[in-house]
Amino acid sequence: MLAGDKGWPLQIAMKMLTAVGRAQDATELMPVTSTHLVIDGTALGTAGRDFLERLVAEGGRFVVPASINAIAVDRTKLQRTEEENNQIRMLEACEKMGALPSCSCNPFIQGIMPSFGEHVAWSESATAPYVNSVLGARTNREGATALASALTGLTPRCGMHLEENRRGNMLLRLKTDVAGASQFSLLGALVGRLAANKIPALDGMADTPTIDEYVSFSAAYAIHSTSAIYHFLGITPEAKALADVFNGPAPKAIIINDEALDAERRRTANGKEGPVDVVSIGCPHASITQLRGAVEIIRSAPRGQDNDVKFYIHTNRLTYDIAEAEGVISALLAAGITVTADNCSVVSYDRLPKGTRLATNSTKMALFAKSVCNAEILFGSTEKCIVAGLNGIWKG
Ligand code: F3S
Repeated sequence: MLAGDKGWPLQIAMKMLTAVGRAQDATELMPVTSTHLVIDGTALGTAGRDFLERLVAEGGRFVVPASINAIAVDRTKLQRTEEENNQIRMLEACEKMGALPSCSCNPFIQGIMPSFGEHVAWSESATAPYVNSVLGARTNREGATALASALTGLTPRCGMHLEENRRGNMLLRLKTDVAGASQFSLLGALVGRLAANKIPALDGMADTPTIDEYVSFSAAYAIHSTSAIYHFLGITPEAKALADVFNGPAPKAIIINDEALDAERRRTANGKEGPVDVVSIGCPHASITQLRGAVEIIRSAPRGQDNDVKFYIHTNRLTYDIAEAEGVISALLAAGITVTADNCSVVSYDRLPKGTRLATNSTKMALFAKSVCNAEILFGSTEKCIVAGLNGIWKG
């Protein structure tokens, strides 16, 4: 393949994998059973489109299942810009090579879940910690290399694929209760910030988190940590006991209490009480449980006067279709909420005016909105965000 005997797509894929493997001191390539690809049209542009279309034209085909991350277009929209059409062409090129158009940074809600011990090549910073930590499958935080793995079925044997690199080297002790997507997002941001490039083991988690809570934690963790794994002691599959996690005695624990979480909340949110311009829920993509929950909240929420808040909930197409069949989408639309399918939420906001007051339940969205559109961030629970969206006011 590397010599080009099997065509240009495999040759370029092998060049990429062997270069990364050498840089990581990998001794060999190993098989993977699935891949997850980022094909963000905003970042890759027409050059990315041309590259993917050339792969198709020259016979490139995926040899293992390949799911696709959130893309740069809302696929419920009928009218598209040139940039959005470009993104659709990139998606079509991947589909021609065999990809599943899952279009989500939360593929787990579509049942795309590698099993314990499976070796895979997944890109997108938020999915890799979930794959390693919660599922016990093995992936590095891949980039374009996931595409090379989809074409060849191979990845360098290094990093998270080696047992010895998965153990913890930092102990955190949780001294407060957390529940719900926003609190797990806050906790994930704090744990990621404390961990930086270490592998943390968090002790003291009272209950097994829900999938939605794990997903929120993983996405937030990945924005501050370079590591692709974390452990919850007694809960996640490679941390049933302290001895599973550490080589030798456990390090001294760092305490996470209410004060530490409050400090993280203050780092996340820089806005105060007052009017809201935008509400954003669904970073990572909302699950069907979260969409149903939003309708429940709307039914009992206090309603003020009409307002012109731009209120978005982001999800993927499959979840959107299920919600549509259940009447959930029509209930959300009736409340003035725009529900998008398949797009990365950040793409919806990159042209917001500076100083836009944006309410969210996601620390990842908060960080992007601050840096991409200079937004003033209001951070709180899903319920608080929904009430603010319906009434146009964020209450302290
Ligand atoms: Fe997903 Fe985009 Fe947020 S990829 S996690 S919606 S930044």
